[in-house]
Amino acid sequence: MKTTNQTTSNHDNFVKIVEVGPRDGLQNEKTPLTFEDRRNLILDLMKTGLKNIEVGSCVSAKWVPQMAESDQLYASLPHDEDIQFSLLTPNLKGFESALAVGCKEVAVFTAASESFTQKNINCSIEESFEKFADVLQLAQQHDIKVRGYVSCIVDCPYEGPIDPSKVAEVSAKLIDLGCYEVSLGETIGTATPDRVAKVWNACFERIEPQLLAGHFHNTYGMAIANIYQSLTQGIRIFDSSIAGLGGCPYAKGASGNVSTEDLFYLLSNMGYETGIDLDALMLASRNISQVLQRNNPSNYANAYWQKKCA
Ligand code: HMG
Ligand code: MG
Repeated sequence: MKTTNQTTSNHDNFVKIVEVGPRDGLQNEKTPLTFEDRRNLILDLMKTGLKNIEVGSCVSAKWVPQMAESDQLYASLPHDEDIQFSLLTPNLKGFESALAVGCKEVAVFTAASESFTQKNINCSIEESFEKFADVLQLAQQHDIKVRGYVSCIVDCPYEGPIDPSKVAEVSAKLIDLGCYEVSLGETIGTATPDRVAKVWNACFERIEPQLLAGHFHNTYGMAIANIYQSLTQGIRIFDSSIAGLGGCPYAKGASGNVSTEDLFYLLSNMGYETGIDLDALMLASRNISQVLQRNNPSNYANAYWQKKCA
């Protein structure tokens, strides 16, 4: 029987974007950004019309120093009832930090690869479910939404190709545990649309498409092609990162996520609604690129500024 969730609606023309730049985008920076720079990025993003913003991770600062004080960062933000902030919480300790600052949405994360799960969160896939069960139970008591992530949906940096049926199994388990949505992470950006199609087909045997999101890294420049493929199969939720920031400390060589700018260009030109204000998005993208002193990999952002300055 397919796993469904009555509270999620699927407007065919609306695409939900989850901005992961402040978390996925910054977790891999060689020099961690200051608290103030992280906060300014989120304040910029709040002006763009983006309604879902991942603020950071309540993980061990020994493992990911870039995400230290994410709970305090959350607490320092002005709260807007139209914007859903979230924090990554791999276990009860992380969840309790998020709870203490009044966070209303958290995300748990595992993978379809045993080796990656060990490297990333220091436990097996099965053990990760045990930790998440505690998180989900407490979250339910406090009326906190929990999103799930599954990494390595196509290839694993340690194990190579991953069987789509394993992705479906792990994703369905997260939904069964109580996650309201599961984001499928193409962690190392090696996938092509044919392989992405197989993953969605395997998942659709067990889960309704409206409960699934696509999270595509862009190492080989395939993220937009993979998103287009996903759109044709009915996926209407995508994660993206301002200025294409991102990577995972436990997936060496993987580059950033699809940029929110390029995703916006694709979606708006195809007639999908996103609620994004283009000029505000471009300002946020320019500001963070300046802070990081880095060229923006987004083709659309570069074309936008060239045209504007011509
Ligand atoms: P562990 O060492 O197994 O944890 O780490 P432990 O329970 O044995 O505790 C060891 C120490 O960590 C203790 O401190 C705990 O208090 C502390 P000590 O006594 O040594 O001083 N600790 C914590 N501190 C802060 N927050 C916590 C926490 N838990 C324990 N929540 C742990 C397990 C999960 C904490 C560790 O492996 C970790 O922090 N991993 C980081 C994982 C991570 O952030 N990865 C990147 C995000 S996932 C991703 O990028 C993929 C995604 O984008 C999708 C995709 O692209 O595929 C989502
Ligand atoms: Mg990621």
